Amino acid sequence: ITGPGTSAMDPSVVDSFAFAFDIDGVLIRGGKPIPEAVEAMKVLNGENEFGIKVPYIFLTNGGGKFETERCRDLSQQLEIEVSPGQFICGHTPMREFADRYGTILVVGGEGEKCREVAESYGFRDVITPGDILKANAATAPFRRLTETEHRNSRDLLARGGKLSDIVVEAVFVFADSRDWASDLQIILDIAQSKGGRLETRSETFDEGPPIFFSHNDVLWSAAHEHARLGMGALRKIVETVFEDTTGGRKLKTHAFGKPQVSTFEFATRLLQQWRASQHGLSEAKPPATVYFVGDTPESDIRGTNAMNEVSENEWYSILVKTGVYQEGTEPKYKPRKLVNTVLDAVNHGIRREM
Ligand code: G3P
Ligand code: MG
Repeated sequence: ITGPGTSAMDPSVVDSFAFAFDIDGVLIRGGKPIPEAVEAMKVLNGENEFGIKVPYIFLTNGGGKFETERCRDLSQQLEIEVSPGQFICGHTPMREFADRYGTILVVGGEGEKCREVAESYGFRDVITPGDILKANAATAPFRRLTETEHRNSRDLLARGGKLSDIVVEAVFVFADSRDWASDLQIILDIAQSKGGRLETRSETFDEGPPIFFSHNDVLWSAAHEHARLGMGALRKIVETVFEDTTGGRKLKTHAFGKPQVSTFEFATRLLQQWRASQHGLSEAKPPATVYFVGDTPESDIRGTNAMNEVSENEWYSILVKTGVYQEGTEPKYKPRKLVNTVLDAVNHGIRREM
């Protein structure tokens, strides 16, 4: 027999609330844990005055690695076991598009990693900017592939034809670009092509394939004291330069990640599965409150507040001061609670409940 609001497997696990965490600027900065983050995880795992354990998941806009690799890193950094069953990164929801498109262009990340991730999601024919540059070096006049890049890039011409035989059905920006100029050129070439056919130019500029970004963060919190430019900045440049080079035609691209409500809904499903598989809680009945802890008002707080509007349960936004948000400024999207660190956020949520 278990007490009210606790689980059958472990009676100290609470059923009525849960936490979801942003990563960069909340738990990690520049590859290193924010000191209070390690302590915050301990508190959630039972080292608190009430002796309770609180289920939690991670929801980052970042990406560029397999979810399993990222969880391994996070486990080390936070000194806990993090499972892919409690982790969503910017490109995770792209998985659901694998059956929809044949040939796709995948942009961003280190080396071949994002191609490998896309293939692991089930995408059947994944080409990269490196493949295009290998086939036609004139695509980006100042970009020279390194020897390794040249070796790893696939030979598109070995398919027996010309580049213009290849039709890109969708562009997916999986992770931050490592070479903005050549990636920008290649994305724009495809956006301005005849229906995604490489090396062609549309006369009407309205027939390019869809372009998806894994998130829309213009800024994010890395090692530097000031926030750094992120994928949302590249997205803005793509859209602006498209307009400038097509006589004013508008390009509408799409973004996954926070603050999209669909991303938070994806997170809700994951949280429910995680609570059930890990803690034996009901998968059908969500916790009454989910505390979301983030550092970026435009994505974390905006998305959590929007989710609170549409969801049956409460989504409670907590903004920390360790990342993009700068103390003393007025956040564009107001959190339910502003605190210094993730440890304060966890303590606030637990005390509000108990
Ligand atoms: O590129 C990563 C970044 O834009 C944000 O990551 O963890 O703060 O959502 P996160
Ligand atoms: Mg963040």
